[in-house]
Amino acid sequence: MKLQTLDEWSFDVFSLSEAAQGTPVKYLGYDLLSRYGMIHKFKVPTAILENFLGKVEEGYCRYRNPYHNNLHAADVAQTMHYILCRTGLMNWLTDLEIFATLVAALIHDYEHTGTTNNFHVMSGSEAALLYNDRAVLENHHISASFRILREDECNIVQNLSIEEFREFRTLVIDMVLATDMSFHFQQLKNMKNILSLAEPKVDKSKAVSLVLHCCDISHPAKRWDLHHRWTTQLLEEFFRQGDKERELGLPFSPLCDRNNTLVAESQIGFIEFIVEPSMQVCSDMLETILTPLNVKENNEESGPVDRTFQIIKPWIACLVENKKIWKEQAIKDDEIRAQKEQDHKKEDNEISNNAQGTNE
Ligand code: CMP
Ligand code: MG
Ligand code: ZN
Repeated sequence: MKLQTLDEWSFDVFSLSEAAQGTPVKYLGYDLLSRYGMIHKFKVPTAILENFLGKVEEGYCRYRNPYHNNLHAADVAQTMHYILCRTGLMNWLTDLEIFATLVAALIHDYEHTGTTNNFHVMSGSEAALLYNDRAVLENHHISASFRILREDECNIVQNLSIEEFREFRTLVIDMVLATDMSFHFQQLKNMKNILSLAEPKVDKSKAVSLVLHCCDISHPAKRWDLHHRWTTQLLEEFFRQGDKERELGLPFSPLCDRNNTLVAESQIGFIEFIVEPSMQVCSDMLETILTPLNVKENNEESGPVDRTFQIIKPWIACLVENKKIWKEQAIKDDEIRAQKEQDHKKEDNEISNNAQGTNE
């Protein structure tokens, strides 16, 4: 079993999935919830946990998506685990908040249809009708997951008190709704504003929501081989949506036209405009909230000093490396395109010359 490296930033979830016979959610979900002592603290019967994780895994496999499948769920849950344990975030959270955070990561794309919110809205899907075009997928992921918990044999929160359940439910809802990319810029701006105050007070729910959002878009900040594989799979999913859009006579959504999408360029843009600023704000936030927890421990003799605690950031080197590779790729793609254009022009000229020759 490939669980030895579970604490690493660039954990290979693809190998885990192979080792776990295609059930990474079940293996990872079970392992994480037991590592953090959740099974014991919230008295989760192990058979019930297995049933719940099995149902979640099934839902992720329903639409056979190249990207939004059980591997993505396991990947996001593992990244959440990395942040919880390797930055020390877990020490700032209560057991219930850790439980909610891990479950939110596991269910955050449950029963994803392999199409975007925009596609749901534009095609007038059942889900778009049900959720009035607002956060259509995210509402579904949450609602359908809580429906699993209604079944006694899958109810992992059956031994929580009423108050605990209310808090758990609110946290999971807030976190998963915040994974909707349309809140991205507002979410970052709000957090930046809070962090710029003289005495920043970061809300627990806002903090874990930003962490989940970052975990969700973290593959461009992982080792190249992993990031490249995720990108290929995500683009194939986007292209299949583009094929559907063409059939329905809808305009192509961004990155969905398989004949006219600049992959390398799109990834450079996604890294520079979305991933890097997110990781920056997230690490600033983590350092801000974790500083008070670390000052006492580190400075018993010299007394508290006003120095911010620093977390390790393995994503920085990965982002630099991945951008470099995409930039090289973009140059090569450009050359190939220019060559093709020239060839086409030459062909066109030859055709028109020949046509003129026969006319004369
Ligand atoms: P989802 O996992 O639901 O939430 C985050 C979204 O970001 C994801 O769906 C994709 O729509 C988008 N996303 C993630 N990675 C990339 C990427 N490398 N390029 C473009 N979009 C991405
Ligand atoms: Mg999502
Ligand atoms: Zn996701």
